[in-house]
Amino acid sequence: MKVLVTGGAGYIGSHTVLSLLENNYDVIVYDNLVNSSVESLDRVEKLAGKSVEFVEGDICDKAALSHVFKKFKIDAVIHFAALKAVGESAQIPLSYYQNNVHGSVCLLEVMQENDVHNFIFSSSATVYGEENEVPYVETMKLGTPSSPYGASKVMVERILADMTVSNGRFRGVSLRYFNPIGAHESGGIGEDPTGIPNNLLPYVAQVAVGKRDKLSIFGDDYPTKDGSCERDYLHVMDLAQGHVAALNWLNCNDEFRGVEAFNLGTGNGISVFSIVKAFEKATNKIIPFEVSPRRAGDLPAFWANANKANKELNWQASRSLEQMMEDTWRWQSNNPDGYLT
Ligand code: NAD
Ligand code: UD1
Repeated sequence: MKVLVTGGAGYIGSHTVLSLLENNYDVIVYDNLVNSSVESLDRVEKLAGKSVEFVEGDICDKAALSHVFKKFKIDAVIHFAALKAVGESAQIPLSYYQNNVHGSVCLLEVMQENDVHNFIFSSSATVYGEENEVPYVETMKLGTPSSPYGASKVMVERILADMTVSNGRFRGVSLRYFNPIGAHESGGIGEDPTGIPNNLLPYVAQVAVGKRDKLSIFGDDYPTKDGSCERDYLHVMDLAQGHVAALNWLNCNDEFRGVEAFNLGTGNGISVFSIVKAFEKATNKIIPFEVSPRRAGDLPAFWANANKANKELNWQASRSLEQMMEDTWRWQSNNPDGYLT
């Protein structure tokens, strides 16, 4: 089975490509490298002992996409390609809507023109917005996220729902990721943010390796156990395997038509202070930190109800917090400058 993976050179994409190869899928990666390098795929090939077809291109370029669909007989698409920096999305919202929404529409059009109907979309817990209560469950209505990034994910989910009405053959899965962290256990591939990391774990790891002085903990006065925000952190390899489980689910459910959403998380909320402690314990490193004001747009706490994915996809996040920390550190210490190292 041939799978087209848009954004496959990126953080979650590269780990998923590895899992796909290990599960005997043929993979074609389509990526414009705006936030990644092909080095990640070279390393994936070495780890898997198999090769990946790589095509450099933009999802907004329908002619280039069509060429890929004509050249390879694609059976399914996993769509990671997107811009993902929440703060930046408020500064350049049109680029986010152009890339994430228009880009997804281009991809869906080219799929339809080429009679490809199996689609897995990288959605996010952010689609639950601010109005839903935790734990989030898939039966809840889509919310109103505060950032253009989050809104772009809600818009694509709505587009998928509309497509199922107009295209009776469409088979879509929206995977709503909670907070993926960690790296492949080899330390050979991992998260390689450009500039100052926005997300917690890459920042902690860069403090540990001496690239940053100290961590700022954004707020210690939230209504949580220790006052810092709580999130549902899951290992990126568990998340990668969630995509394989979703593909297997599509393959086993021939009659399925429409679109289904699944939360991919552990079901546990972990605080920022607990993450710092867990990282220190797993790595024997001290993480200097200071408490700073709250970050705009942060919710106090959210985590998944992952029962639907457990039951229907036969998927469970199985790797421990300790392993997430050890693997983050293995990647960061082996590659202090990411893929440039
Ligand atoms: P990433 O930036 O590492 O990967 C995205 C990849 O898409 C990059 O390789 C980038 O070069 C590529 N890309 C971006 N725009 C493109 C375009 N127009 N055409 C072709 N390629 C393009 O990000 P990631 O963390 O791996 O995230 C993957 C997906 O998962 C994204 O859709 C993101 O919104 C979603 N997601 C991520 C998280 C997270 O915490 N990392 C959480 C929820 C959802
Ligand atoms: C963020 C986005 C979310 C997106 C996800 C993946 C926001 C509001 N949400 O999730 O939409 O899907 O990234 O890209 O940006 N923290 C610190 N210090 C830091 C960094 C983070 O204390 O230097 C705290 C944050 O306040 C938060 C927690 O760590 O409580 C996790 O932050 P982060 O990794 O950015 O993820 P989210 O905010 O959950």
